[in-house]
Amino acid sequence: MSYRKDFAWGCATSSYQIEGAYNTDGKGPDIWDVFSHSPGRTKNGDTGDVACNHYHRMKEDVAMMASLGLNSYRFSVNWARILPEGRGFVNEAGIRFYDELIDELLKNDITPFLTLYHWEMPYEIYKRGGWMNPDTVEWFGDYAALVADRFSDRVKNIFTLNEPQCFVGLGYVSGEHAPGLKTTLQDSLCIFHNVLKSHGRAVQRLREKARQPLMIGIAPTGSMCYPASDDPKDIEAARKALFAIPEDPNRWTWNVSAWSDPVFFGQYPNEFLQRFEAYMPQITDADMKLISEPVDIYGQNIYNGHMIRMGEDGNPTYVERPADFPQTANGWPITPECLYWGPRFLYERYKTPLYITENGTCCNDVLSPDGAVHDRDRVNFLSQYLEQLEKATEVADLRGYFLWSLMDNFEWNRGYSDRFGMVYVDFNNLQRIPKDSAYWYRDYIKSHK
Ligand code: FCB
Repeated sequence: MSYRKDFAWGCATSSYQIEGAYNTDGKGPDIWDVFSHSPGRTKNGDTGDVACNHYHRMKEDVAMMASLGLNSYRFSVNWARILPEGRGFVNEAGIRFYDELIDELLKNDITPFLTLYHWEMPYEIYKRGGWMNPDTVEWFGDYAALVADRFSDRVKNIFTLNEPQCFVGLGYVSGEHAPGLKTTLQDSLCIFHNVLKSHGRAVQRLREKARQPLMIGIAPTGSMCYPASDDPKDIEAARKALFAIPEDPNRWTWNVSAWSDPVFFGQYPNEFLQRFEAYMPQITDADMKLISEPVDIYGQNIYNGHMIRMGEDGNPTYVERPADFPQTANGWPITPECLYWGPRFLYERYKTPLYITENGTCCNDVLSPDGAVHDRDRVNFLSQYLEQLEKATEVADLRGYFLWSLMDNFEWNRGYSDRFGMVYVDFNNLQRIPKDSAYWYRDYIKSHK
């Protein structure tokens, strides 16, 4: 077996990371504008003010996607670009940008996959308490309704939230990302519950305003677990470890099941409640019903995983990695098995058509004297990971794969130093240069259609 005929082969990006034009044409400030403008928060003080200037180079970028053989593209709408205050006044110039992007994609036979929230919270919403304020559930719903109203005649596939684990964990627990807070456990769990309610409300409002039947999902992240051997005991241990809840209260967001179980099953995992219920806000049946508003697709971002074996005490054991274990330029482990075992375990549990909404690698890419970028490490990474993904088509209903990322961009608090693109961006002049991996990916897509 291999990929479906209609498999989505794409790249993913997010608005703050590529668009630039941070205060152009009436866009309101978002929390990343404020965070990156605040001293010492990002590497070298880098900001997304200009980023790849995709806002002004959109047509050229879509042409590049088409020439590289993509049939799909995952992007995010910046909430503050279309609703500068997060609610109320609609900025038609912002709407126009996404209208034109969508039209340009369709003209090039590229299917748009839209993400509502890839971390761009309007600063005005944040000032009103952001995810801490239960009213944000309704405001996020209104934003979703506007997106459906204006874009769903042409956009069928919509993800609500990108990586809630990260934006809550890094934004409100460790404080490394915008808005840069280290909140109490009670506050971060209140944010967690409101975030999930916002997802549910967005699903409802998207459907209410949909101009065609939509495929709606969520796009969480997680480190996958894979077994040390084919022994059923190791497989069971890896499955258990994947859905386990971390004990460390400072790391509580880093798990799969506390985010996905409520969405798909309408309940928080028992293990999570046992550990954290005392710090959670009041949870009602109506909340859980809202959070589990049915979705059509599941997007999972997968970058790496951990090898697990069954310990002698009958508990999953993390197999220690040797010191020379392969890693990416930003120090993430290279574990291709995660693209087989991740989809297998996730599909087994949630039984929902699956997209890999992000996967990719950071490399030390350099422009060679011959004018090309020979990113052999990325080609190597992709060929190993995609071999596993193809195998996973036998055990999971896999619908698509989005490489992170189309082009080098603003990598959050790491600024422009971490390059994830299949297209190199020279940040002195914003020239785009497809790397060897872009041509490799183009050929891979062609030979697997
Ligand atoms: C993910 C984010 C994405 C990008 C990649 C490298 O966590 O969703 O925006 O930063 O990692």
